[in-house]
Amino acid sequence: MTHLPIIIAPDPILKAKAKPVARVDARVRQLLDDMLETMYADRGIGLAAPQVGISERLVVIDTAHEDEPATPLFLVNPEILWRSPETTICNEGCLSLPEYFADITRAEQVRVRYTDRDDKTQDITADGMLAICLQHEIDHLEGKLFVDYLSPMKRSIILRKLRRFKSGEGK
Ligand code: NI
Repeated sequence: MTHLPIIIAPDPILKAKAKPVARVDARVRQLLDDMLETMYADRGIGLAAPQVGISERLVVIDTAHEDEPATPLFLVNPEILWRSPETTICNEGCLSLPEYFADITRAEQVRVRYTDRDDKTQDITADGMLAICLQHEIDHLEGKLFVDYLSPMKRSIILRKLRRFKSGEGK
């Protein structure tokens, strides 16, 4: 497996709508495995393919705590079928926005349909951290970041600081 480089915002690929995956073949399975390894190495709980520079509808998630057994989820072409009217607020972060966190309001529960790593269609109803993570990662496939929920002023401050951080990377 390969550790993939994470794309840091702002970057056009993080703003693009990702393309549907036609079928789950060896290439897609390898990519999902590499994404999972990358996510674990970077201590994330979710990762979407655009974050590793691939504009396809692929997501990996594992919301288990570090002292619990791993519960990896591989989602191909995930779509939200239903969102509960009840909402919840969580302090969110993102591997593409290192060291930034913000309180984001999302649906408390969601039902999601996706194709799994074995090319089977699955429906899950999720709550808690998994529901938040599903919404955050599926947003990535639409070119949406958590900072897009903030005021334009707050968002531009964060993105300006990240741009400065990126321009200093090679020094
Ligand atoms: Ni993210």
